[in-house]
Amino acid sequence: MFARSAIACAVAFLLNGCGKPESTGTTTTSTNTTPTSTTASTGPSPAAAAQDLYKTRCVPCHGETGKGDGPGAAALTPKPRNYTDAAWQKSVKDEDIKKTILYGGAAVGKSPLMPGNPDLDGDDKKAQLDALVAIVRGFGK
Ligand code: HEC
Repeated sequence: MFARSAIACAVAFLLNGCGKPESTGTTTTSTNTTPTSTTASTGPSPAAAAQDLYKTRCVPCHGETGKGDGPGAAALTPKPRNYTDAAWQKSVKDEDIKKTILYGGAAVGKSPLMPGNPDLDGDDKKAQLDALVAIVRGFGK
């Protein structure tokens, strides 16, 4: 008798949990393990970034062609450096140009109207700064 009902219950259990509320089933919370795209921000090449920097930060004063005749130049005294001036190109070292760009004219005994770009100071910006110097040098060629 007992065994019988036990079996009956076992069978019933298999079918519907032997009268117990139906198991709600373990909701397998799908842990979304898809890695959030960690695309290493390689960004544009240092040369391209420097071109961008030149256009946005230098052209207003030094001009598109580096002659120191940008739209903002007229109001400035002394005038922004004309990069096509061969004598000037010879007179400065790359290090001087870098210092001017980073810390501004005042840092190299020039006009404080030449603004500094301290955000370009850092190992991760070195390539961009070098490329910016190359652009300045390029106008003298
Ligand atoms: C607000 C105007 C202005 C902006 C913007 C500007 N400059 Fe100048 N820059 C000047 C002026 C003015 C001088 C001339 C300083 C002097 O002769 O005393 C100068 C001089 C220079 C010189 C020559 C320094 C020397 O040894 O004679 C370099 C190099 C230079 N700027 C690079 C840059 C670069 C690169 C940028 C953009 C990142 C830039 N400048 C943005 C105004 C500006």
